[in-house]
Amino acid sequence: MAAGPFVIAVLVSGNGSNFQAIVDALEAGRITNASIACLISNKADAYALERAKKHAIPAIVLDHKLFPDRRAYDTALVELLRQHGVQLVVLAGFMRLLSPVMIEAFPNAIMNIHPALLPSFPGVDAQKQAFDYGVRYTGCTVHFVDQGTDTGPIILQAVVPVLQDDTLESLTQRIHGEEHRTYVEAVRLFCEGRVLVDGRKVSICD
Ligand code: GAR
Repeated sequence: MAAGPFVIAVLVSGNGSNFQAIVDALEAGRITNASIACLISNKADAYALERAKKHAIPAIVLDHKLFPDRRAYDTALVELLRQHGVQLVVLAGFMRLLSPVMIEAFPNAIMNIHPALLPSFPGVDAQKQAFDYGVRYTGCTVHFVDQGTDTGPIILQAVVPVLQDDTLESLTQRIHGEEHRTYVEAVRLFCEGRVLVDGRKVSICD
């Protein structure tokens, strides 16, 4: 039986279309057994903050520039998340690496979405890396966050073919569409208690 309801925080740095997809899925009842306690952005001008306000979700700016280093920022982040009783942290375009302070506070409870099929093309500009490389297929990956950059246990992936007449923009747009679907699915499965982690291996149970 699933535990819950799960208290989720979404962390962003910008647009927040993945955040929006998760909010829409919750409101439509496609994700049950969960609620979003807050949206946290490290940037004051992130459009995602407006999206949160429209849905009456507390929108918090935690500006990394106000902290001396990554550990200090993450210590404040952990405190904020604890205050909100957060159990699942969803990174949705949060363009900061997390320190061990965060990883150890939420073991296998921080998810990230990456716009490529990991372990290929980690890091920044993943869509461009794949496009420039000339792969025929790319996609997106939802994974748990560990100490490395985009190295944690893989939960779900979706494949996006690179079409003959694709530009970087058209490819990026199709990957984005798949991201929305895949992230919602991963959050749904997690909140139903169906995502089991054993070392690097994730299994999805019925
Ligand atoms: C998404 O494409 C996500 O995969 C990427 O940022 C974008 C955020 O879009 N994340 C990374 O590249 C993390 N390494 P959104 O703000 O519209 O959800």
